[in-house]
Amino acid sequence: MQPPYHFDQIIDRSHTNSFKWDNVSYAGKDMLPMPVADMDFPVAHEIKACLDAISEHQILGYSIVPDSLKIIAQEKIKKSYAWETELDWQVWIPGIVPGITAACAQFASFETGILTAIPVYHPFHLVANWVKKPLLTFPMVEEGGRWTFDFVSFEQALQKGPKVFLFCNPHNPGGTVFNEEEIQRIVGLCQQYNCMIISDEIHADLPIHPQSKHISIGKYIENIPSISFFASSKTYNTAGLGGAVAIIPDPELRKQFISATFGFFPMLSRHSIEVMETSWTMPNTWLNSLLPYLRDNHDVLFSFIHQQTGLKMLALEATYLAWIEFDSEKYGDFQQRLFQNGLHVLRGDQFLGGNFIRLNFACPRALLEKAMGIIQLTIDENS
Ligand SMILES: Cc1ncc(COP(=O)(O)O)c(C=O)c1O
Repeated sequence: MQPPYHFDQIIDRSHTNSFKWDNVSYAGKDMLPMPVADMDFPVAHEIKACLDAISEHQILGYSIVPDSLKIIAQEKIKKSYAWETELDWQVWIPGIVPGITAACAQFASFETGILTAIPVYHPFHLVANWVKKPLLTFPMVEEGGRWTFDFVSFEQALQKGPKVFLFCNPHNPGGTVFNEEEIQRIVGLCQQYNCMIISDEIHADLPIHPQSKHISIGKYIENIPSISFFASSKTYNTAGLGGAVAIIPDPELRKQFISATFGFFPMLSRHSIEVMETSWTMPNTWLNSLLPYLRDNHDVLFSFIHQQTGLKMLALEATYLAWIEFDSEKYGDFQQRLFQNGLHVLRGDQFLGGNFIRLNFACPRALLEKAMGIIQLTIDENS
């Protein structure tokens, strides 16, 4: 019998070469980091056992993706998102961001560029510069207490002829799980303007609103090319290991995508392959314990933010990344002021989002309470 999970436990991550905790800009400061999207929780017992077994074996040569993982991924996509895919649609890659970059390099046009909704997870807009193609954007809007697309602006942008639309679902940083009506509108418009959809679904298994049901857009696409990316790394907190799968139904597109990766993509590590297999086959105990904890953290933060004048947050449907708007006339450069007071959150600008901060609340409750204390202190400095 394995011990239950205690997400209240604080594990010291400093001096572990952590991108989150050992950031060079913290040198000499007592900082609470809540930027990049990984969680301050230990992995499931099954994942630890998998990693222990690899260490015990002591062989770390090159690895292949076994048929067993391909079948596991196919079944996972069918079971979780009711999408029937073929095994040979799969292309295994070391991470979703390199996958997006390779796809944009290969398929986006130098004239009409890459289309995405903003604000958005920064690689979605930075990629345009990486592959030297124009960026086209349209805004997300608040509707009924959630972030969704401004569909009029979306259509106007599609009329400019982009070949590639980058879709983030669930949305980072908006926290939106796009519903069936929205998915059908997106597919309809992209089909009408013959624009390929590249869909990043890395947050699909992190519903914060219990009724939110992730819909895989690939299931609805018929007449246009598409690439859908899935990974277990965000859900099971193994982001440092990487590993992801691209589902590309069109054989010619698949061939071209693979050719764009040659020489750029390393092979997947044994750790990432075996951890993905474990994540998608182990019992749901860890995730079923994690989600209520994340939901409680969300609710604590949400009600705290609502009590503050000049701060606003919409309830998230998915992800553990709160997107908080601030009144810049009142609070000035709020992100910088929080940083000076010992809390590191990301700036809205990083997502092309303006007067917002993004706060990662996937941490023990005591750390979240400490963060809220710093926010309160920063606000009180104004009165
Ligand atoms: C929407 C989204 N896609 C991709 C990633 C990173 O994926 P990978 O580590 O597989 O490149 C993140 C990480 O935060 C993310 O939020």
